[in-house]
Amino acid sequence: MKEIKAIIRPFKLDDVITALYSVDGLPGITISKIHGFGKSKAKNSEDEIRDGLHAFVEKVKLELVVHNEIVDEVVDSIQRIAYTGNPGDGKIFVIEVSNTIKIRTNERGEKAI
Ligand SMILES: Nc1ncnc2c1ncn2[C@@H]1O[C@H](COP(=O)(O)OP(=O)(O)OP(=O)(O)O)[C@@H](O)[C@H]1O
Ligand SMILES: [Mg+2]
Repeated sequence: MKEIKAIIRPFKLDDVITALYSVDGLPGITISKIHGFGKSKAKNSEDEIRDGLHAFVEKVKLELVVHNEIVDEVVDSIQRIAYTGNPGDGKIFVIEVSNTIKIRTNERGEKAI
């Protein structure tokens, strides 16, 4: 089981979700509006927001916990669709997940995803 955590440009969300719908065995997605900064910080970009002393850029975060077999397909889909080639396209992190517990059924591990 791996968690795929992807930070993308908000305007790419619809197309990324459409691409992910076609991945067989996709169990679910959590989507959050977030803000943050990369290596170059936020610099006078149009989508910059101020929070206290600092400027951030608005992004969307996708979180998916999936079986190992579909990790590459999910990552490739997100990267292909989220790409513009400009700084700020975002990042995809792949994280090992040690367990999943489904609250309703008390299933554990791979079958709980
Ligand atoms: N190492 C990181 N850890 C956590 N969040 C990150 C990290 N790098 C980037 N992010 C998040 O991803 C968003 C987009 O990052 P961004 O694509 O600008 O990264 P970058 O390293 O600056 O690359 P680029 O040179 O393409 O701009 C940031 O606003 C931040 O929310
Ligand atoms: Mg950047």
